[in-house]
Amino acid sequence: MMQRSARALTLAFLLSLLACSLGVGAAQAQASTGAGANTTTAIALDHAPDHRGDPAALRHGAQLYATYCLNCHSAQFVRYGQWRTLGFSSAQIQAMTHVEKMSDPLTSTLRPDEVKAAYGAVPPDLSLEAHARSRDWLYTYLRSFYPDSTRPSGWNNRVARNTAMPHMLAALQGTLPPSGYDASVADLVAYLAWMAEPERQTRERIGVGVLAFLAVLSFLMWRLSAACWKDIR
Ligand code: HEC
Repeated sequence: MMQRSARALTLAFLLSLLACSLGVGAAQAQASTGAGANTTTAIALDHAPDHRGDPAALRHGAQLYATYCLNCHSAQFVRYGQWRTLGFSSAQIQAMTHVEKMSDPLTSTLRPDEVKAAYGAVPPDLSLEAHARSRDWLYTYLRSFYPDSTRPSGWNNRVARNTAMPHMLAALQGTLPPSGYDASVADLVAYLAWMAEPERQTRERIGVGVLAFLAVLSFLMWRLSAACWKDIR
């Protein structure tokens, strides 16, 4: 009787370890899909190709951001120096942005009130935009501008009706075939997602390590319990 309840205890312990590791895995999976997106649009969103694991794509996205977005959009939670984790040298970052200190947060060159005077709205900080919207939303938004002479900027957008933002990527879109433009926007969106979660890759590595550790531990506990019970039985 004693023996049976002790064996049940061991089993319960192993099962709870398993449940625990499954829980960690599920949390990881959920975190990486960027759940909780606020999609305020009525049109169907296109699926953004996931370039987040591709360092070259992230660097291309950062370059696009520096060239086409940073004039207006700060990202106060990201520091220029963090771009080194994408594979840029400090000299390259300086050449791309004219930043003085690597510890400075990404700061727009135009003042928000100047942009508001010119375009009618303050450009939002984009640090967490990929969480606030979603990657699909951003991917569709940046590919949905169309000329509209009734708008002050001359542009309108199918996803964000009457947006004050002009189509900053119009020149890029004009020089690339549609598939090339889509791929560039996917890189930019991957970069925007990286800004919202610069530590994501580290966290995923740690998650995998934790799962491996739990697997080894479970195996050892199982062997240990078998060895302990061998003599008693
Ligand atoms: C000339 C200034 C300017 C530049 C450059 C610019 N934007 Fe904007 N952006 C704005 C303004 C102004 C708004 C606010 C629009 C509004 O509230 O109607 C905005 C809004 C946004 C939004 C929020 C949309 C929403 O409704 O949630 C996103 C995302 C965005 N911009 C992305 C970008 C990206 C990516 C780039 C670079 C390709 C970029 N912007 C370049 C001015 C700019």
